[in-house]
Amino acid sequence: TNTMILWAVVGYLLGSIPSGILLAKVMGLGNLREIGSGNIGATNVLRTGNKKAAVLTLIFDALKGIVAVVLARMIAGELAAQIAAFACMIGHCFPVWLKFKGGKGVATFFGVVFAIYWPLGLVCALTWLVVAFLSRYSSLAALLTAGLSITWLFALGHSEPFFLCVALALLIYLRHGQNIARLRAGTETKIGAKP
Ligand code: G3P
Repeated sequence: TNTMILWAVVGYLLGSIPSGILLAKVMGLGNLREIGSGNIGATNVLRTGNKKAAVLTLIFDALKGIVAVVLARMIAGELAAQIAAFACMIGHCFPVWLKFKGGKGVATFFGVVFAIYWPLGLVCALTWLVVAFLSRYSSLAALLTAGLSITWLFALGHSEPFFLCVALALLIYLRHGQNIARLRAGTETKIGAKP
């Protein structure tokens, strides 16, 4: 139990590193809270017009998840890896450093899913790309990917991380309340459009 608590803490702390905010600051892009959706993720960093910063945010937010899962698995096994995965998402969405007002967990979701079971990560990334390409909505792509990830698990014949994936999908839905409202109202910003 102590080991599991330790990996929950490590996962949380890694997840709570706000890459988007730090990169925006270092690269002089201003305060993300005052841009677009106000979110700290790659989609909103892209609204500053700096593609490089957006890609770096995506990479670092995903990397947090990969590092948390791989470290936990190497040292303490598969259960620890799943706990670290969930804790990392919680850290990203509710970081203590930002008064618990964090991101929406999509890039970190891709990182942890890749590290937990890479074929699922691959299929999820493809799902996101297809929906994003067709709809131009980053949030819709994330919501459909999170929901479908559970279907893909069974399709791939690997249902072991089922509860983890359900928890991750629920967290992503929970964090996209405003996006869901905007999608329904037809006011969601498309990728590449000025907000
Ligand atoms: O990755 C987060 C995305 O799904 C929504 O971001 O900034 O449009 O709320 P944003």
